Amino acid sequence: MIDEMTTVLEPRPLSDFVETKYVKEITNRALSYIKAGFPVHLRGPSGTGKTTLAMHLASKIERPVVMIHGDEEFSTSDLVGGEHGYRIRKVVDRFISRVLKTEEDMVKRWVDNRLTVACKYGFTLVYDEFTRSRPEANNILLSILQEKMMDLPVGRGGEEPYLRVDPDFTAVFTSNPEEYAGVHRSQDALRDRMVTMDLDHFDYDTELAITQAKSKLSKQDSQIIVNIVRGLRESGKCEFAPTVRGCIMIAKTLKAQKLTPSKSSSAFMQMCQDILASETSRVGSKTNQDRVKQIVRELVAKELGIGKAISVEKKATESATAVETVDSRKEKKESESLAGVSS
Ligand SMILES: Nc1ncnc2c1ncn2[C@@H]1O[C@H](COP(=O)(O)OP(=O)(O)OP(=O)(O)O)[C@@H](O)[C@H]1O
Ligand SMILES: [Mg+2]
Repeated sequence: MIDEMTTVLEPRPLSDFVETKYVKEITNRALSYIKAGFPVHLRGPSGTGKTTLAMHLASKIERPVVMIHGDEEFSTSDLVGGEHGYRIRKVVDRFISRVLKTEEDMVKRWVDNRLTVACKYGFTLVYDEFTRSRPEANNILLSILQEKMMDLPVGRGGEEPYLRVDPDFTAVFTSNPEEYAGVHRSQDALRDRMVTMDLDHFDYDTELAITQAKSKLSKQDSQIIVNIVRGLRESGKCEFAPTVRGCIMIAKTLKAQKLTPSKSSSAFMQMCQDILASETSRVGSKTNQDRVKQIVRELVAKELGIGKAISVEKKATESATAVETVDSRKEKKESESLAGVSS
């Protein structure tokens, strides 16, 4: 019993969890489906806050949490349980004090895995990236979600071959869209048993608040970073759109280095190019990276007003040339008139 309980998490709100209007709205929608008895599936591109939100929902449900991460190698027994352990029985016979006789044998022991534990005790299951597991491994979920009944393989220590799912059992699933590498198509029947909510990248206020909360950087500096990352995302030129993770990485690096974007503009530029070019290209093709770096250079220059400084300087030089021309013309005229006087 104790063995199986070691995988249970205590739901606790994250200390730096950001709750903006956007986050609250999604949370309330998801909770309304959960309260009506339906499992919720958060689907969206990488970095849209699915895992964090799933854990947040679990903390609102206020039941212990069992977490599973989808895995290509999973089989049903990884979810349900199996004869994973041995129990060693040792008999020590000291009937005659000078003769010690011991006898050992091993008995196979069934160990419930996380899904069974969640169903049995009515815990909240957070199945993160469930489409990374092969669909046949997830088949067991069909009857759990519909009939509230779990089929158990034979050999589970003489107990019933099925388990009635506790009414408090709830499930929150997350997944990346199907075009992501290493992701399987989820079965239609499984998707049909849950409410899927499609998440997109955060709105401006949430992205800014998360960047600030995670890095403890000033609002002004965080704004510069968020503007650059959002600008790159909106350019539509990236193989993968940059995410809030890019904002957090840049902000944390700046903080750790005790730099600010305006005072150390070239280091900041380099940092943005390194982090954002690596985040947005899968194979690291040079053409892609160069294109991203060029866009980042322009965005950083715009944010820091470097672009403006260049154009102001350019205009100043141009007008200086123009003044020179007027002056030189004046001089020319003067010298001409002088020449006229002298003649
Ligand atoms: N509401 C929030 N408050 C604070 N931080 C958040 C919040 N939502 C997301 N984050 C942070 O944003 C980052 C991305 O979030 P998360 O890991 O939940 O995304 P995901 O959609 O699960 O991404 P992936 O598909 O890559 O697993 C993480 O660093 C996370 O801590
Ligand atoms: Mg995740």
